[in-house]
Amino acid sequence: MKVLVVGSGGREHALVWKLNQSPLVSEVYCAPGNAGIASIARCEAIDTEDFAGLADLVNREDIGMTVIGPENPLLDGIVDYFEERGLPVFGPRKNAALIEGSKTFAKDLMKKYGIPTGAYQSFTDYEEALAYIKQQGAPIVIKADGLAAGKGVVVAATLEEAVDAIRYMLQDGAFGQAGSQVVVEEFLQGEEMTILSFVDGTTVIPMVPSQDHKPVFNGDKGPNTGGMGTYSPVPHIDEQVVQKAVETIVKPTARAMVQEGRPFRGILYTGLMITEKGPMVIEYNARFGDPETQVVLPRLKSDLAEIFLAVIEGNLDKLPTIEWREEAAVCVVMASGGYPGPYDKGHVIQGLPNNTDTVTVFHAGTASKDGEIVTAGGRVLGVTAIGSDLYEAQDRAYTAIRSISFDGAHYRSDIGDKALRQAKNKRV
Ligand code: AMP
Ligand code: GLY
Repeated sequence: MKVLVVGSGGREHALVWKLNQSPLVSEVYCAPGNAGIASIARCEAIDTEDFAGLADLVNREDIGMTVIGPENPLLDGIVDYFEERGLPVFGPRKNAALIEGSKTFAKDLMKKYGIPTGAYQSFTDYEEALAYIKQQGAPIVIKADGLAAGKGVVVAATLEEAVDAIRYMLQDGAFGQAGSQVVVEEFLQGEEMTILSFVDGTTVIPMVPSQDHKPVFNGDKGPNTGGMGTYSPVPHIDEQVVQKAVETIVKPTARAMVQEGRPFRGILYTGLMITEKGPMVIEYNARFGDPETQVVLPRLKSDLAEIFLAVIEGNLDKLPTIEWREEAAVCVVMASGGYPGPYDKGHVIQGLPNNTDTVTVFHAGTASKDGEIVTAGGRVLGVTAIGSDLYEAQDRAYTAIRSISFDGAHYRSDIGDKALRQAKNKRV
């Protein structure tokens, strides 16, 4: 079977890489892809929002399954569009993708079904939001309701910052329609953890947990990014806590979506805060995380194409147990100078190592130009390594990244340290 992956980032490179290993898959296509993906798949220059162009490609090339990477086409209804044309597609429909597309929808769902999350209220009116913030006090969290490319969340340490954030979103319209409604949320304290789950409507199969690093600088300093690095497993968070999160959050969320008449089929991303009161939801996404995917898929032993087909057919309960490697994985993101602020593109990338059994460089924002690979985005590469434990994986990832260079490149040098500091003598 031929498979098409829609998207162009590190997540999509990891999806293409893993699908290529499936005995069910004869050829992988990617639209639009990037320079790294082009070395292992057939890339077609079709935009992720060009549903008709993508469907034409599927029909023309006799592609048996399309996998949607990013959130925008999901929220714009690409799955509905493909289904109406009888084309097998992996991802949630528009009405289920809303769990990522509207924070108000997500918070109301959690409240209605008793899924643990921070206290909150939604506002469209600046004065009302202001009164609530003053009453609650700082620290407090302000979130634009809609998609804002990871930049719509302000964790305000002071009342002043919180007021600035609502002014920016509600009065200045900084995020346009996405910020015309805001969620003001209780500040939650604890460790963050991501659980990605395969969901076919009713059956939920969680993947191994991972931890992202959103702030741009070491020690979680500086502005938030799309994610500067990840690792898996997360050994300092007990297995019982993970189980509790699955039982009290992931499974109830899938059930709630069915009850709401919006069955969720695809990857449910639960971003969690492990608080003293237990795991609570910080955010849902309706897709694989980036760069969580880059550490989770290298640990997956089972056939990803077979799992995707089972989700599409609603047969996840009949699938043999999904198996995971014991090894640990670490992904370190190498970003363009200036990112997450403005950055330039087109710098030549030097010293890219060949991929090995233990080190894979997933490309995020790269392009080919005059026979060279150049930077083409904020996050440029995800240097990923596996090892017998997190120490070994981390060491391999940093050894590889030190050989790579481009003008302005920067990366965090502490990806995985949180786990290594806390694990002490435990196996990591
Ligand atoms: P999000 O884009 O929703 O993932 O939020 C970005 C980051 O803001 C998260 O990764 C958290 O570090 C932080 N954050 C979001 N919501 C809260 C909250 N209620 N309490 C504390 N931190 C939060
Ligand atoms: N790494 C966070 C996200 O994919 O949204």
